Amino acid sequence: MGIKFFDEFIFGTATSSHQIEGNNKWNDWWYYEQMGKLPYKSNKACNHWELYKEDIVLMHSLGYDGYRFSIEWSRIFPEEEKINENALDRYREIIELLLKSGMTPNVTLHHFTSPHWFMRKGGFAKEENLKYWGQYVETVVEILKGVKLVATFNEPMVYVMMGYLTAYWPPFVKSPFKAFRVAANLLKAHALAYEILSSRLKVGIVKNIPIMLAASDTERDKKAAEKADNLFNWNFLDAIWSGKFKGVFSTYTVPESDVDFVGVNYYTASEVKYSWNPLKFFFDARLAELSERKTQMGWSVYPRGIHEAIVKVSRYEKPIYVTENGIATLDDEWRKEFIVQHLQYVHKAIEEGYNVKGYFYWSLMDNYEWKEGFKPRFGLIEVDYTTFKRKPRESAYMYGEISQKKEISD
Ligand code: NOJ
Repeated sequence: MGIKFFDEFIFGTATSSHQIEGNNKWNDWWYYEQMGKLPYKSNKACNHWELYKEDIVLMHSLGYDGYRFSIEWSRIFPEEEKINENALDRYREIIELLLKSGMTPNVTLHHFTSPHWFMRKGGFAKEENLKYWGQYVETVVEILKGVKLVATFNEPMVYVMMGYLTAYWPPFVKSPFKAFRVAANLLKAHALAYEILSSRLKVGIVKNIPIMLAASDTERDKKAAEKADNLFNWNFLDAIWSGKFKGVFSTYTVPESDVDFVGVNYYTASEVKYSWNPLKFFFDARLAELSERKTQMGWSVYPRGIHEAIVKVSRYEKPIYVTENGIATLDDEWRKEFIVQHLQYVHKAIEEGYNVKGYFYWSLMDNYEWKEGFKPRFGLIEVDYTTFKRKPRESAYMYGEISQKKEISD
């Protein structure tokens, strides 16, 4: 006997606009790609902007029941105050096609990229810029008819850390002060979007939950791990309801808000070690050495962490969706094993009574993995970047079968 999921459980896949669409010429990433500040250019990415119909037919034929994707703000507003109706129509069509074929759309409004003009004004570092975000949200409401799941931000703390703390990603700012201000402004932006959308739609947020393990049994390492966990994982989510965001230097007051679901992105675990260095907030976190074998991202695999993430997020008593979980590898057998092992832990959580309603594999297809370019292969579907041909891997069929039967067979 295999393990059985309940009938309404959604098995979907996930992508994001900049990573698959191609020619996203109006956002900050594109700008820095052209400037030579990023090692790889997204160019036509997977050419999804042209091949969207085929892609939807393909995911449907593979038997998936959900699809998480993001709307590219910079396509809707390529310039300040200028709406691109064609782009709006395109997203409307994508949503309609998904609904017609019986798939659940799960739409993210912000997945790391912002319009270049918005970033030139200071982006989310400036509170007065939230009016532009508000305009964007007001503009997309009309195309979201029939959509049950809308997330405001994808991985807000990753956006903050990469863009404003480590300066690894655009806008390449290294300022802890700014970083926490941006985080506080994202909370304000979430609250604003929730106010605009929540009477009509289910509005959530997507949070990456890396498992923070203490590097040793010493009190100092354990405390450091707890601190990193709070700073990275919980302070942000807690603030949605408490209206108080605890940064490192101060506590920011943000509007009290809500979510109708929490999206959990889970990939791996980190090991946290105490550090004497105040500039590092007194801890060093690095990827845990849990499995000897590393993925193309250099990450270890730690399937039980997905259960832990679900258990921890359940403190908010909201429905949970695993909005991302996946592996970058050329070894598709490993991908199959990865999916099954993680789903087994999701199933365990459901059996224990946790309110998990769906799982979205990252990613539907190979795509532009940000600073790592096109090398990491996360896809269920292989993409040939010269012909843009799609070729489902064996894992794509296996996952489709799980989705159809709502069961993992032995
Ligand atoms: C999370 C991000 O949301 C997504 O954009 C990225 O490609 C995956 N992690 C894999 O790194």
